[in-house]
Amino acid sequence: MPSKSCNEKIVIRKARREDCSKILDIGEEAWSKQGMSYRLKEKFGIVGSRTPGQRIRETLLGLLQKNLDNTLVAEVNGNVAGFLIYSFDDDRKIGHIGYNAVSYSFRGKGIGTRLVREALSVFKERGMRYAMVFTDLDEAHAAARRVYEKCGFKPLVKHVTYFMKL
Ligand SMILES: CC(C)(COP(=O)(O)OP(=O)(O)OC[C@H]1O[C@@H](n2cnc3c(N)ncnc32)[C@H](O)[C@@H]1OP(=O)(O)O)[C@@H](O)C(=O)NCCC(=O)NCCS
Repeated sequence: MPSKSCNEKIVIRKARREDCSKILDIGEEAWSKQGMSYRLKEKFGIVGSRTPGQRIRETLLGLLQKNLDNTLVAEVNGNVAGFLIYSFDDDRKIGHIGYNAVSYSFRGKGIGTRLVREALSVFKERGMRYAMVFTDLDEAHAAARRVYEKCGFKPLVKHVTYFMKL
């Protein structure tokens, strides 16, 4: 797929160890302003001992340490601008798209879509028959929903998370 910006060379490739710190930075940038920990912080103040940014860094670090092979990055003119982590349910032949984000200054150039399309081709090559991804229904995830639907996903279940103070 052609990039929306003709001056930039966008390459989608497997992540390498030296990409990890940039992936954590992009994750922190995104999930400091959206997602469950952010929502909790907005409503109740910081819940627990760590900020949403610290939590996402820990979560992503754990996933990268276990699963670097299942991580894609988008490189723009040699700089890591986005990432996507995936996993496989080999029994049900479902490829799962997990955490993925593009750094603010690179959004809207088709990078998120290219990362998802690449993950879908990896799934097919691995013999997966289905693909799945979870996302939120709020405005912060509107771009993500657009990307998934552009790539062929259809909504399966819309769900609610309940929470209360004890
Ligand atoms: C989701 C994300 C990875 C998409 O990256 P991206 O490189 O900007 O994606 P693309 O440029 O390929 O496509 C974005 C699409 O969303 C659309 N979009 C952007 N903001 C939107 C909004 N508020 N409402 C509806 N559509 C929107 C764009 O117009 C574009 O669609 P188009 O190609 O039809 O014009 C990026 O927005 C991001 O990092 N978001 C924060 C993290 C996140 O939500 N990750 C997904 C977790 S499930």
